[in-house]
Amino acid sequence: MKFAAFSAIALPALVSAHGIRDVHHARQAPVAAAASAGTSSAAAPASGTASAATGVATAPVASGAGSLTFTLASTNPTAIPLTEIASGMSSAPTVPASTTFASGTTPTFLPNAPPLPNALSLNPANYPALDKTPPTDSPEVQQWKQEVANSGVQIPDIAPTVAGGCPANLEAANDQSRCWWTCGGCSAPDDIEQCPDKMTWGLTYDDGPAPHTGDLLAYLDQVNLKATFFIVGSRAISYPALLQEEYMAQHQIAVHTWSHPEMTTLTNDQIIAELGWSKKIIKDVLGVTPTYWRPPYGDVDNRVRAIAKAMGLQTSIWTRIGPTATFDTGDFDIAGGLTTSTQVLNNWEAIIGNATTIDHGFIVLEHDLFQQSVDIAVDYILPDALAHQPPFKIEPIVSCLNKPLRDAYIETNDNSSNPIGANATGSASSAEASGNSSGASANGKNSAMGIAAPNSMGAIALAIVSGVVALFL
Ligand SMILES: *[C@@H]1O[C@H](CO)[C@@H](O)[C@H](O)[C@H]1NC(C)=O
Ligand SMILES: *[C@@H]1O[C@H](CO)[C@@H](O)[C@H](O)[C@H]1NC(C)=O
Ligand SMILES: *[C@@H]1O[C@H](CO)[C@@H](O)[C@H](O)[C@H]1NC(C)=O
Ligand SMILES: *[C@@H]1O[C@H](CO)[C@@H](O)[C@H](O)[C@H]1NC(C)=O
Ligand SMILES: [Zn+2]
Repeated sequence: MKFAAFSAIALPALVSAHGIRDVHHARQAPVAAAASAGTSSAAAPASGTASAATGVATAPVASGAGSLTFTLASTNPTAIPLTEIASGMSSAPTVPASTTFASGTTPTFLPNAPPLPNALSLNPANYPALDKTPPTDSPEVQQWKQEVANSGVQIPDIAPTVAGGCPANLEAANDQSRCWWTCGGCSAPDDIEQCPDKMTWGLTYDDGPAPHTGDLLAYLDQVNLKATFFIVGSRAISYPALLQEEYMAQHQIAVHTWSHPEMTTLTNDQIIAELGWSKKIIKDVLGVTPTYWRPPYGDVDNRVRAIAKAMGLQTSIWTRIGPTATFDTGDFDIAGGLTTSTQVLNNWEAIIGNATTIDHGFIVLEHDLFQQSVDIAVDYILPDALAHQPPFKIEPIVSCLNKPLRDAYIETNDNSSNPIGANATGSASSAEASGNSSGASANGKNSAMGIAAPNSMGAIALAIVSGVVALFL
């Protein structure tokens, strides 16, 4: 309870910062808030007679998203009407953590897990300011810098990008040795962008914990699903009880930076500060430190990848099978009025259409920061996915990679099936550092997609992003 004041202040700050930056990297059509939001209701979802599904990123300038272009296989019996999941919707009461765990409780589901710390006694004054890149001159960051230097991972000497996304960084975007995922889709051999097994969905939610995360947790519990939560450090301070609830429910907890910046724009020391403080707050709340992270906006290049690796973090993005087919529901943008819930469901339909045709599994970008994105997940996307035939196997990323949950944390990883970190991955990281991203992927993904023709794909991606930026900035 004592953290309520922080959360109330922090959330709008993140929302406004995130909302603007999100536009830079939005890969699918933003839709005017005024566009009609469809006619479907929970009881009888409209089934459009599918003209071309305006899927993810097919049209940078949308003409609107009037109605669903498909029929949902199922919806939640208690779903609120789709038209009500919109920017400015009246907010439902927030859901506090359903269970609080006494400090010292020991997780029984993870061999050798440390007992839970007394997270509710954390003092925010001992952490950096919320939603800002932490200072780099603190003793903590000095120590983490030393650890990175001692790790043996070579950090490539490439300059940070400048704010403004791909259009402001044309040279960097076309530089293959940088291997910048956001601008052109280049992925490195170690990047996790998909699950190896066909029809397997690595379920992920980013940017929480947040006021409506409790609704999502309750639903996941009800339908017996586990997910990967990519945690923003600044939110962990505000909602430690929700973070503990996620962890104790056996979801995978992973890092999503301290303040949600575009990581390629930061200096090496700032990147270390962002990742180090995120690892620290999660350990201080849970007793364990994640071994996986996701760059905000997917903004990662070989410099950022190498620093993350030196800090023991496995870079995990989401599935991209071509310049216009990125597995991003666009759910983040409902709250800001940049898209509609109908458009998000049409994006979802394109994603599962593609998911059923590719020969490997997939990872989708979704969020638990806003009520809108939680509602559309719980009321529509997840029920539809659960009713899909043939069935999807839905699980956290670490599980879809066929690894035990203990591999998701430094303290419980026995390093046998999951040799993440400086020592174990030194050779892979030097290939990465030299920009060599050919060769088979250890993660079973088809890494050729992002690499085969980076220049032409980069050009297409640039055009898409430029269109979006021109519209909104
Ligand atoms: C795959 O995604 C693209 C782009 O979003 C979309 O146009 C296409 O219809 C999808 N394919 C299937 C089979 O749904
Ligand atoms: C696994 O590796 C990490 C990092 O290299 C190390 O701190 C930890 O002690 C190792 N665990 C075991 C069980 O060897
Ligand atoms: C990693 O390297 C350090 C320093 O050489 C060593 O102390 C540590 O035990 C190593 N960890 C693993 C998992 O090999
Ligand atoms: C990149 O790695 C591949 C596979 O390991 C290797 O065959 C190739 O020679 C390397 N290229 C460079 C430029 O190092
Ligand atoms: Zn995010």
